Amino acid sequence: MTRKKIAAGNWKMNLTADQGQSLVGAIVQADRPSDVLTILGVPHPYLQAAVQQASANRGVQIAAQNMHEAISGAYTGEVSVDMLLSLGVRHVILGHSERREYQKESNELLKTKVDLALEKGLIPIFCCGESLDIRKSGEHVTYVSSQLQASLFHLSAEDFGKIVIAYEPIWAIGTGETASPEQAQEMHAAIRNLIKEKYGSDTAESCSILYGGSVKPANAKEIFGQSDVDGGLVGGASLKAEDFLSIIRSF
Ligand code: 13P
Repeated sequence: MTRKKIAAGNWKMNLTADQGQSLVGAIVQADRPSDVLTILGVPHPYLQAAVQQASANRGVQIAAQNMHEAISGAYTGEVSVDMLLSLGVRHVILGHSERREYQKESNELLKTKVDLALEKGLIPIFCCGESLDIRKSGEHVTYVSSQLQASLFHLSAEDFGKIVIAYEPIWAIGTGETASPEQAQEMHAAIRNLIKEKYGSDTAESCSILYGGSVKPANAKEIFGQSDVDGGLVGGASLKAEDFLSIIRSF
């Protein structure tokens, strides 16, 4: 089974509404390879406009950067799964290391969010990845494995098959320091192997595993060229149309 190639942008907390609208417009209107799914992770206030802008173009989908774990209720300032679905959002980034760090999101909380997203029909882009200390200690595969075990491996094969995984080593996020293509491949192969042990070859082979951490036009081709890397989750370089389009065309 062939895996989906995905170029996903994560704008994080950047850009004004006008800037965002121009960026979505430029990506939607540009020539892009037809076999690459482009996903734009835009801030919540821009979701509705972005969904409308992208609706005419099958190759571009819009993702939220987070959602709350409760269905609804007294949670001031939060955004629910039903709100996202009612806007036509199809994907949600869950477990980004910035939310794990600043909002103290735990593996257990993320398990709840993953379950709710899948139950309602939203596709999680589930982030995992180790800190520099863990990388230096040589425990990176064990650590990422424990993240997947705790938040995802209770899922049925059918539900697991809907998820996109993003491996984002924390030491490579926003630092300009990218994992080498070999380091990315090693971890992606390890993740795929864990999925194979848990769910079998078909599920493992059809799961898209994205790399994130200082992906830019200059390194995307080499990273995406690794056999177990199916694309990228891109922060800084997704904020400029020219750079992100170059990354989308790097497969
Ligand atoms: P950068 O591409 O800016 O390193 O960010 C990566 C990231 O965190 C994407 O989710």
